Amino acid sequence: QSAWTGVNERTFVAVKPDGVQRKLVGEIVRRFEKKGFKLVGLKLVQASEDILREHYWDLRTKPFYNRLISYMSSGPVVVMVWQGLEVVKTARKMLGETNPAESLPGTIRGDYCVEVGKNVIHGSDSVESAQREISLWFGPNELHRWRSSSSQWIY
Ligand code: TYD
Repeated sequence: QSAWTGVNERTFVAVKPDGVQRKLVGEIVRRFEKKGFKLVGLKLVQASEDILREHYWDLRTKPFYNRLISYMSSGPVVVMVWQGLEVVKTARKMLGETNPAESLPGTIRGDYCVEVGKNVIHGSDSVESAQREISLWFGPNELHRWRSSSSQWIY
């Protein structure tokens, strides 16, 4: 395993409908930017039940599944792709635990929510899920490769 493993790793993050309605989008984007990750995709979308059922396919037999789909389709979500070294694992740490009550202060769920059924943010749980979720929510033309450089366009 070389020192470069995971450098260009990508993860899928979504601000859930309650997070959008509570105006947490800017705060969440700010945390990922300040941490040092690169934004390579972002959009506001009203998710269809079809995409949500596919997204949460692994949870289809859980008792909370139907409620989860209604919640996730109750308003627009902000979906994002962040890139950087070990971003999948680090993003999960930044989110906190699934249950906000178990999330430490300083994490997004630890700071901004109280209920598992209204936990404001999603983040992929593995590199494989991230790849699956990114290709489910984003077309190839919606993901951008870019480098910061000194440029006439930056004041
Ligand atoms: P899960 O994939 O287990 O957690 P995470 O979002 O941290 O990866 O569950 C998906 C979502 O389902 C979770 O964010 C909130 C909801 N959920 C409930 O409403 N009740 C529950 O008991 C669990 C485990 C999850």
